[in-house]
Amino acid sequence: MPLISSQFQAIVFRNCLTRAGPRVRSCNNYSGGLRPLVWLHCRDRPFSSSRYSAAVSSEPSTTQKDAVKQTGAEIPSVKEKLPNPERTPFRFREFDLEGKVFVVTGGARGLGLVLAEALIEAGGQVYCLDRLPEPDQEFYTVQERLGPKYGGSLKYDRVDVSEAANLDRIIGDIATAHGRLDGLIAAAGVQNVTPALEYPPEKIDEMMGINYKGVYLSAVSCARQMIKHKCSGSILLVGSMSGMVANKGFTSSVYNSSKAAVCQLTRSLAMEWGKIVDGKPIRVNALCPGNIMTPMVRKNFEDDPELRALWEKENMLGRISEPAEYRGAALFCLSDASSFMTGTNLVIDGGYTAW
Ligand SMILES: NC(=O)c1ccc[n+]([C@@H]2O[C@H](COP(=O)([O-])OP(=O)(O)OC[C@H]3O[C@@H](n4cnc5c(N)ncnc54)[C@H](O)[C@@H]3O)[C@@H](O)[C@H]2O)c1
Repeated sequence: MPLISSQFQAIVFRNCLTRAGPRVRSCNNYSGGLRPLVWLHCRDRPFSSSRYSAAVSSEPSTTQKDAVKQTGAEIPSVKEKLPNPERTPFRFREFDLEGKVFVVTGGARGLGLVLAEALIEAGGQVYCLDRLPEPDQEFYTVQERLGPKYGGSLKYDRVDVSEAANLDRIIGDIATAHGRLDGLIAAAGVQNVTPALEYPPEKIDEMMGINYKGVYLSAVSCARQMIKHKCSGSILLVGSMSGMVANKGFTSSVYNSSKAAVCQLTRSLAMEWGKIVDGKPIRVNALCPGNIMTPMVRKNFEDDPELRALWEKENMLGRISEPAEYRGAALFCLSDASSFMTGTNLVIDGGYTAW
């Protein structure tokens, strides 16, 4: 069904905000600066773009003239048609995560924690799972400041992602508590720099047990709950550009192989789960970052002081990235903004793999 004209949308929006004409349900949620926390069943999301379109499209006419006749509204001025900065929730609604629940593994620090912050800022309820006894101090700052401000929340649970039963139980408890689960960022990972000829066989199992099996188990546990609660959603596996190239001067053959496995796992799970929730998808994509300044990489630079200069030189932007430079990608992948994207490896590496 064709959508109505943008002018009519503007009229309905304005009337909705001023409560003067035909209203779109739930508009009041957005009438203040802060949005109330709403717990909804997966099948009853507020303001999904399709619901909004349906609500608006149910008006009988699509012409501006008819719209004016029906609503009694005046034709909006150009200024009125522009987004109101005080009502930013109306902008880019496809990025809105209000009322949605997410798991982030490896969320005690580094990239996982920063990506968890992005989901909270968009209104998500986020559970960070990690094997560390306590998360970074930054976690508590975010929990206190960001959660209440944006209507989201941040919680922490200690678990080793390679322990299937524990992981399954904790993810099951999260989904049961909310009656839903909408997505996962699988960022838990370890790295080991050892020349291949010296790599101890048992260390290969250890690395694959976390970087591959841990990611696999996290994805499957979350998918089970998403299916159980009828939540079509999105999973983002953290791979690496190291799954695609051999990083120059970096003897990390097992790490690189584990990340290549994650890139392939992404495609396979995406294929299996494309219509798994009553015909709707659990989308699965991989984020493949370049070098990021996290505790993991700081340790690499301590061990080999010449590494930093080499890595900086090897990408087109001539620098190491910051974890915050992946926030937008995570939000894009976990939200409806990427609704037609699945089975993709999203490479963000400053051009490292492009030349
Ligand atoms: N830093 C980079 O340059 C870079 C580049 C590409 C990809 N990555 C990937 O990004 C992800 C995050 O890395 P980071 O740089 O933030 O590293 P990090 O070491 O700072 O964070 C990794 C987190 O994973 C947790 N973890 C490790 N093993 C675990 C297990 N068995 N169970 C639960 N939690 C576990 C750690 O405790 C830690 O909190 C990793 O998958 C990593 O491979 C990092």
